[in-house]
Amino acid sequence: MGYVGPAEAAPILVDGLQRLEYRGYDSAGIAVHDGTVVAIRKAEGKLGRLVAMLDEHTPAGSTGIGHTRWATHGPPTDFNAHPHTDPAGDIAVVHNGIIENFLPLKERLGESGASFASDTDTEVLAHLIAEEYDGDLKEAVRRAVGRAQGAYALVAMSRKEPGRIVAVRMISPLIVGLGDGETFLASDIPAILHRTRSILVIENGEMVDVTPDGVTIETLDGAAVEREPLEISWNAEQAEKGGYPHFMIKEIFEQPDVITETLSGRISGTSEVVLDGVAFPDGFVEGLDKIWITACGTAYHAGLVGKEIFERKLRIPVDVVYAHELRYRDPIIRPGSLTIAISQSGETADTLAAAELARSRGSRLLAITNVVGSTLSRISDDVLYTRAGPEIAVASTKAYLAMLIGEYLLTVAMGRARGRYTPAESADMITGLRHLPQAAEEILEGAADIAELAEAFDGAEDVYFLGRGVDYAVAMEGSLKMKEISYIHSEAMPAGELKHGTLALVTRGTPVVTVLTQGDVYDKTVSALQEVKARGAHTIAVAYADDADAHKHADRVIRIPRVPDLLSPVLSAIPLQLLAYHVADARGHDIDQPRNLAKSVTVE
Ligand code: AGP
Repeated sequence: MGYVGPAEAAPILVDGLQRLEYRGYDSAGIAVHDGTVVAIRKAEGKLGRLVAMLDEHTPAGSTGIGHTRWATHGPPTDFNAHPHTDPAGDIAVVHNGIIENFLPLKERLGESGASFASDTDTEVLAHLIAEEYDGDLKEAVRRAVGRAQGAYALVAMSRKEPGRIVAVRMISPLIVGLGDGETFLASDIPAILHRTRSILVIENGEMVDVTPDGVTIETLDGAAVEREPLEISWNAEQAEKGGYPHFMIKEIFEQPDVITETLSGRISGTSEVVLDGVAFPDGFVEGLDKIWITACGTAYHAGLVGKEIFERKLRIPVDVVYAHELRYRDPIIRPGSLTIAISQSGETADTLAAAELARSRGSRLLAITNVVGSTLSRISDDVLYTRAGPEIAVASTKAYLAMLIGEYLLTVAMGRARGRYTPAESADMITGLRHLPQAAEEILEGAADIAELAEAFDGAEDVYFLGRGVDYAVAMEGSLKMKEISYIHSEAMPAGELKHGTLALVTRGTPVVTVLTQGDVYDKTVSALQEVKARGAHTIAVAYADDADAHKHADRVIRIPRVPDLLSPVLSAIPLQLLAYHVADARGHDIDQPRNLAKSVTVE
């Protein structure tokens, strides 16, 4: 966060940090300039500790910078919290991302007699800027950045230049909010959306100079940049909890609307899909013979569903590869292929690197992302926005469902182009998609029953999720949700794989959740369910409402409305999200900010 204006900076910075806390929350700090001195307050732990410190004494001043940290270099401690300064305290810096060459820089500075107060790479930046400083902060930052390598964003201020902050974007996101006589800097729009809707998105390799007279942007090479602000249409309330105890449960309950929003305006007549932002060249889809999907975490699981539906419906081979794997392989990605990079934030460092790699090999790059103006959207040839609105909980829910909807829309659009969908078939698919918001609503009406099932997880140390085909992809997502917020060890596997080893771990009372929606492999999945039941597992199945047999195979059955099998992931994921939520809630965990995790992983 950064602020330059007429108001007291500290409350504005802290308020912005509260809205950014989902990006990192192991320590926090601010630096405020009162025209004479720069006062720094910082504390390990969640923002509340900093707020308590500020309650005792809030530094005065109308220029400031602030930060919430997700540790990369050095443990979360008071002294590793940002802002960091040079030894004289002249330069204060906050930064996201990593300075990759910080060690040689630090050694070199150390040889010149510098001493360091933290383990961080950020402090090295403060030293470099101080070393380069000769009265002009912007030029000092420019020269210092020229010596640093990595993917990061930084904001700096100088004790000698009150009313000025300078920021740089090197890959990690950075935005500027234009207020009435005041300027805000942040790493994400929700931090300042309630203050201004007029946003400048800073591009890679650009620097921003903020003074009371206004904002100038230039490239690191010194070329002036003219940029029109974006007017953001999100409702500020969308970024608040809206009466729910946690963002996660609020976001789960938003899903019917999110499905509607993501479909909205993209269906023409009864059988055609029109995707704004996707404009394949003539003949591209017809000649396409390979699709790559790359993503991380939940977005990767959405990609696994995508593989199933693209291969079945388009008959194009699809490889889904974790972005952190793809980027360091030598993949056989050929010109003329299509790479789909999926990312809620559009800022995940691994996904961006994998997407760049695919593009450099001549693949057409299509982004499925939730954040308008995100880095991924700007490096892609085509962008399918998911319209889930800001997702605040670290555990992704509504963005996942929206990604699936994006994939179905893409399937219909491409299927029509390839002649694999007749108008009647695509009309059927569209009817199915249009029914999903109502079906999702019905599941949410039964949320209280799912909350009761959480009892089955009392004292559980291991949980297993099973499924076949798209059910396996959903099981993967259910398992990730469970482990990231309940901290119970959880594994997902294809139902047929269990007997090849993992069955040895199933003992009396082990919860096993089976997704049981796919008609063509129903009996096969039931066999696996029986195998775990025979070993005393506590079995829970997710099955269609009209499945008359499910209760014969599982101890408890969560019902979802009947839909065509290929669309079932959109519905079967919802009970698994609710289950994870209630298990974590019963254990008293910090659901929106689980330990060790951050919402956007913008470092490698
Ligand atoms: C899921 O609940 C996690 N928050 C995480 O796996 C996330 O999906 C992953 O880090 C990818 O994030 P992205 O969609 O913003 O790229």
